[in-house]
Amino acid sequence: MFSSASKHILCFLSTSLCFALLSCSAFTPQDYADALEKSILFFEGQRSGRLPANQRLTWRADSALSDGSGYHVDLVGGYYDAGDNVKFGLPMAFTTTLVSWSVIEFGSSMGSQLDNARAAVRWGADYLLKAATASPGALYVQVGEPNNDHRCWERPEDMDTARNVYKVTSQSPGSDVAAETAAALAAASIVFKDGDPFYSNMLLKTAMEVFDFADRYKGAYSDSLGSVVCPFYCSYSGYHDELVWGASWLHRASANQSYLSYIQSNGHTLGADDDVYSFSWDDKRAGTKILLSQGFLEKNIEDLEVYKSHSDNYICSMVPGSPNFQAQYTPGGLLYKGSESNLQYVTTSSFLMLTYAKYMKNHGGGSSGGSCGVSADKVVELAKKQVDYILGENPGKRSYMVGFGERYPQRLHHRASSLPSLHASPARISCADGFQYLNTPAPNPNILVGAIVGGPDNEDKFADDRNNYHQSEPATYINAPFVGALAFFSQHL
Ligand SMILES: *[C@@H]1O[C@H](CO)[C@@H](O)[C@H](O)[C@H]1NC(C)=O
Repeated sequence: MFSSASKHILCFLSTSLCFALLSCSAFTPQDYADALEKSILFFEGQRSGRLPANQRLTWRADSALSDGSGYHVDLVGGYYDAGDNVKFGLPMAFTTTLVSWSVIEFGSSMGSQLDNARAAVRWGADYLLKAATASPGALYVQVGEPNNDHRCWERPEDMDTARNVYKVTSQSPGSDVAAETAAALAAASIVFKDGDPFYSNMLLKTAMEVFDFADRYKGAYSDSLGSVVCPFYCSYSGYHDELVWGASWLHRASANQSYLSYIQSNGHTLGADDDVYSFSWDDKRAGTKILLSQGFLEKNIEDLEVYKSHSDNYICSMVPGSPNFQAQYTPGGLLYKGSESNLQYVTTSSFLMLTYAKYMKNHGGGSSGGSCGVSADKVVELAKKQVDYILGENPGKRSYMVGFGERYPQRLHHRASSLPSLHASPARISCADGFQYLNTPAPNPNILVGAIVGGPDNEDKFADDRNNYHQSEPATYINAPFVGALAFFSQHL
């Protein structure tokens, strides 16, 4: 095995080999496979509820085992979104949708990791099923009061802040969170279609019901739940994007024409090409365009051809020199959207690029894309630069994935990772006593393997400071699309 530096020298010397491979890679397929395994393992570190016997991140233990009990519903399980102990429904659903999408597009490249990726989907889908079916006419969208939670620095296993439960109903609707939940359940139903048809049918049936609820009772969940979802996961982009996204997933999962009609009637709400490289837990527009382009490129559904044009515009917006170039890059070449957890936009954009390149290739061998005439291979190359940057090909020569490479973030803004584990320190560590572990310059004692953090600033600088949460906090939705991107490069280099 060569070190990163000697690989560069090798590449430099063997230029003919590099020409043959189109571009010279800093990483081997085994490196990407290693990163893939770690990117999935990370989800085990975010688990809430009763951990199974095959849990591999063993410094975590059972937590939040009575979530929902005060309200006579079972809301045990699911994922903590990031570095705190709240279960936020909107990002959890988006995460489940994106891990599912990763499996749907690139599961065939996952090899031995496919079962682990499916388990990561199921952990989210099981919880969303409970949240959607626990009581009629309601969707549970959050457990935990974030302002109280954030006043403590506690292990999830010790957590003693109030586990308030929040829901959306016909009276206080939340089309954003409900339609994203429908998207997640529909996408997960595709993941389990062959392996577990009973579960898959239940997911799809529930997805249809939740989508109907989202569409029938229109409103933003921030209107009724603003004090506990904002500013954390306010739906800044509104709910129209989630409704079309949900319908698109239901169409893909069910092939039911009624969803196609819905898309045709409502697709204009996505906008043609405005501010499109912000695909995230909040803004679903770019992802919906790419998802719908599949219907045209792979299935010849003529009604969806317009989304190929939209997708071309989206891709071109990230290609320097193209007419509608809108993106911003750091001097080191990282796609840069904003200072708050920027890598979330990098991982979603990379995934969309690779997914679109796949659709382009399946549609007549890599036809070039629209206004900027970019080929599928060129799109893959663009995505690869972003993926490689995250893995360590960057000015700081630092991997932004914990446990990958020789140099990676040590001071994650993450309660469970920064506090000693129950094994190391069985006695309770109270709300206030935990803050010494937030404020110490010492590295985190528990390695949250595979976590990707918020990442560097617009000049490629990274503080590795636990209090700088924009840079040092991991989140499930940063990793979710990266699972698919890594699977792709572990097989196609
Ligand atoms: C298609 O979806 C609509 C709307 O949810 C539903 O009423 C109808 O029964 C579905 N058709 C089939 C064949 O599943």
